[in-house]
Amino acid sequence: MKKILDDISEVVSSAFEKCGYDKEYGKVTISNRPDLCEFQCNGAMACAKKAHKAPFMIADEIKEVLDQSEMFEKVDSVKPGFLNMIIAPEYLANYMVTMSSEDKLGVENTANPRTIVMDYGGANVAKPLHVGHLRPAIIGESIKRVLKYVGNTVYGDVHLGDWGLQIGLIINELRHRKPDLPYFDQNFTGEYPKEAPFTLSDLEEIYPYASGKSKEDEAYKKDALEITNELQNGHPGYTAILKHILTLSHADLKKNYGSLNVTFDLWKGESDAQPYIPDMIEDMKKKGIAEESDGALIVRVAKDDDKREIPPCIIQKSDGASLYATTDLGTIIMRKKEQNPDAIIYVVDKRQELHFVQVFRTARMAGLIGDDVELTHIGFGTMNGKDGKPFKTRDGGVMRLEHMIKDISDEMYKKITENHTVDPEEAKETAKIVGLAALKYGDLSNQASKDYVFDMERFTSFEGNTGPYLLYSIVRIKSILAKYKELGKNAKDYKILAPTTKSEKDLMLALANFQATIDVVAKEYAPHKLCAYIYELANTFNHFYHETKIMAEEDEQRQGSYILLLMLTKEVLETSVDLLGFEAPERM
Ligand code: ARG
Repeated sequence: MKKILDDISEVVSSAFEKCGYDKEYGKVTISNRPDLCEFQCNGAMACAKKAHKAPFMIADEIKEVLDQSEMFEKVDSVKPGFLNMIIAPEYLANYMVTMSSEDKLGVENTANPRTIVMDYGGANVAKPLHVGHLRPAIIGESIKRVLKYVGNTVYGDVHLGDWGLQIGLIINELRHRKPDLPYFDQNFTGEYPKEAPFTLSDLEEIYPYASGKSKEDEAYKKDALEITNELQNGHPGYTAILKHILTLSHADLKKNYGSLNVTFDLWKGESDAQPYIPDMIEDMKKKGIAEESDGALIVRVAKDDDKREIPPCIIQKSDGASLYATTDLGTIIMRKKEQNPDAIIYVVDKRQELHFVQVFRTARMAGLIGDDVELTHIGFGTMNGKDGKPFKTRDGGVMRLEHMIKDISDEMYKKITENHTVDPEEAKETAKIVGLAALKYGDLSNQASKDYVFDMERFTSFEGNTGPYLLYSIVRIKSILAKYKELGKNAKDYKILAPTTKSEKDLMLALANFQATIDVVAKEYAPHKLCAYIYELANTFNHFYHETKIMAEEDEQRQGSYILLLMLTKEVLETSVDLLGFEAPERM
């Protein structure tokens, strides 16, 4: 259905046309003076010069035409030439009726649906997920859901870090501990075992150990680098070990991402880019894009008009090993071949901004992907602790994601059970759901590029701009609807009536902004704008709720209309929180 602003603009535009002016002047916006009006049009001012007329005279003419329209309750022409509009309650009620009956609440599919790959995992295998992986997962999942909702085909790719030194370190340590394994036998020709010779918890112990040791022991680190290089060149035993590591890691990561309500369509990693790398490098050399520098291969990506220095992109180390940029470039080739996307969106720490500038420029120079394909890096800021430094555990270590999720559900459990008696099992389930919402909303409500402070007390509060507050509003509606149903009534027998109070009209106006909000969120990849919208909507709903006797209303039709309005509010809120990646419990 048409967005409400478009609908109104159309009427105002034809009024301009009717009076002999260009219809482009009829663009209507939400009023920035809600004390005066609901919508406004400033077109008369812009139109005045061309028409050689005072703006207020034009505004007067338009007002006269608009006075004939049933869309408005009142139109004022205000000097020097503003048009202030108050929408007719009947029109608004009809808008609500249509919105309730439409698919997807009247949100239309984008005019040009695209195929989009979203890269928002980035976890490194054999290392547990930690809070550093929280932001890409939360933000990426939400953007993916919104882009799908408006009709795009979106592939979420976890793009695991599985090709770097960390794998070499693990293999090296394994070789020290179990040198007799067939993976390390040069002459072994049989089939490698199906079962991994280690468990996930072995890996979680081996990696930090090996990483620590490599920092003190030069020779040990050199071995690990050598192994990494051999692995990248197809060493069969090491490749088999990597396969074991991946199998174990995938299962564990799926579980962990799952507990965040985050899923991926593709479980690819940096290692999947390897088959594309040798030809890519040859080609770049042939085209003269890549050149040697101190034994390494580099691509000069600086441009004349750069405002800062952009160093060359290193695509091969002097020992022939691939780097982070190399796998990202190979991955672009792979994605082009497999998904042939119109856009690739990377949700990655903003501190990697330079890396993506280098990779994108190299990809364009080498023609790995068409110029019409969008490459975007959405760089997010850091989640800090209350001390303003990157969030750490109490003893200064990196916090595991599962521990953080547990901490926040525990806190939620305390709050839920504080004031009333609830079944402990149910409270536990509820605490999990609300805790996740607290965590995700606390993150998503900030503009992604900004740093923010993880504040357990504030995030879990039922008041203010928080996840629990929003869920509480949804649960409140659910409980009214249940009570209504218990009375044996069915709102579907009635229809939404024109609002009679300001708080009711405000609620309708807020609901009518849903389509435009989704539009902006999808265009700007900006979930924080969806958060701002539902916070405002929840406030408007709660205000209406406090001002209106819903269950005590004696006029059945009026009451039915309230209930239908609440059903619509609930659907908008629930759809929105689903797009943000969480859900509301039945009770709280
Ligand atoms: N594994 C990387 C890291 O931990 C993040 C990967 C992000 N995605 C990408 N295509 N580079 O920093």
